[in-house]
Amino acid sequence: ATNRTFTMLKPDAVENGHIGAILEKINASGFRIVALKLTQMTTADAQEFYAIHNERPFFADLVEFMTRGPIIAAILEKENAVEDFRTLIGSTNPAEAAEGTIRKLFAASIGENAVHGSDSDENAAIESAFHFSGREQF
Ligand code: CMP
Repeated sequence: ATNRTFTMLKPDAVENGHIGAILEKINASGFRIVALKLTQMTTADAQEFYAIHNERPFFADLVEFMTRGPIIAAILEKENAVEDFRTLIGSTNPAEAAEGTIRKLFAASIGENAVHGSDSDENAAIESAFHFSGREQF
């Protein structure tokens, strides 16, 4: 069925000038952009967004990284959006990501991995609501 996923182009992708190339790849892969903005997460935002990881050893670095500059937040619609988008972005660790995936092309490390993709329909809805009001979603 047609559904939606949530993505962020992370600070590394924005700093490195990859916004256009990544959005082009997203469009070329059949996703419809139904919400989009340049924004920056505060420390409190990042701690809440990534609360599931707050016991992990990398949590402080993750919050520091995600707040260091602007991100692109977006909601994407497509048949099987959550699963297909995770295939398009590739493994969390870019060293293990498949050829042609966004992380293989644009990410430098497991910590700075260019892009986020929701891991379930439920989290896609939660993450979308975190970043976008109803009137920002089309
Ligand atoms: P993502 O899956 O989008 O959301 C959680 C993030 O935590 C993940 O991307 C990575 O950026 C980061 N992360 C996961 N595992 C590690 C790790 N072992 N070391 C550093 N960062 C990590």
